[in-house]
Amino acid sequence: MTITIEKPRFGLHAAEMKIPTDPKELVLDGGFSVPDTNAFGQTFRDYGAESERKKTVEEFYRTNHLHQSYEFVKRKREEYGKLDRVEMSIWECVELLNEFVDDSDPDLDEPQIEHLLQTAEAIRRDYPGEDWLHLTGLIHDLGKVLLHPSFGQLPQWAVVGDTFPVGCAFDKSNVHHKFFEGNEDFKNPKYSTKFGVYSEGCGLENVLMSWGHDDYMYLVAKENATTLPSAALFIIRYHSFYPLHRFGAYASLMNEEDKENLKWLHVFNKYDLYSKSKVRVDVEKVKPYYMSLIEKYFPAKLRW
Ligand SMILES: [Fe+2]
Ligand SMILES: [Fe+2]
Repeated sequence: MTITIEKPRFGLHAAEMKIPTDPKELVLDGGFSVPDTNAFGQTFRDYGAESERKKTVEEFYRTNHLHQSYEFVKRKREEYGKLDRVEMSIWECVELLNEFVDDSDPDLDEPQIEHLLQTAEAIRRDYPGEDWLHLTGLIHDLGKVLLHPSFGQLPQWAVVGDTFPVGCAFDKSNVHHKFFEGNEDFKNPKYSTKFGVYSEGCGLENVLMSWGHDDYMYLVAKENATTLPSAALFIIRYHSFYPLHRFGAYASLMNEEDKENLKWLHVFNKYDLYSKSKVRVDVEKVKPYYMSLIEKYFPAKLRW
């Protein structure tokens, strides 16, 4: 599929990208969302494979689909939306994430900073003029600090994995859809129709998404008044929303701005998935460039 990318909110050049659309090529979030990723290959998800990993992933989604209800998401958004935990810069957060993820996951052969910088640097190579997209690559996963003790040490099912709207029917394209049957919203008439508490074309910004690192980082960026364009915020909030960006589900909730921004998410997703390599990024060499972007788009320390 070839899509034409139009300008995000501020003036940028149009470009064309080929986007891979094989639905088997699914990733569980950079290879650190559930344990045991290493033994069975970090990159691609295969829900049909008979493996230990399959059980782990199933268990992950069983718990995730059971607990991610409308009320749960509302509570978490209110709690974390206060941003009263800590003050730190973007780069300090990169370092924090890097440190503790290494500690908690000794099998992960690449530190998180590598995934962030490899994503950002791969985008930078192909889209040199879109500095906002480089920074988006660097920060898109920073919400994973929710796993850290000082951020409440949330369980994996409340931090990573695919995301989906709550407050309306769970679409069949959600992985392991059957596990939603245990969710308190599943049979609630208010939340189980196609649009539920929403309306057609209402805009994704008005839709509650299952709670995790995506929505948290979106809140952090937005509430700290970043000057990043809306396409960047869209990428951050929906990068794990595979039912939409891979399968086109829930598309009728989008407004016109969402539809424009989705094109950039398709571009971004390719780099999030495929930029992983054994070629290490020289952190000290590229750091000044990213510091300048942080300065440009997040001039003050952030509240988290
Ligand atoms: Fe992510
Ligand atoms: Fe990622």
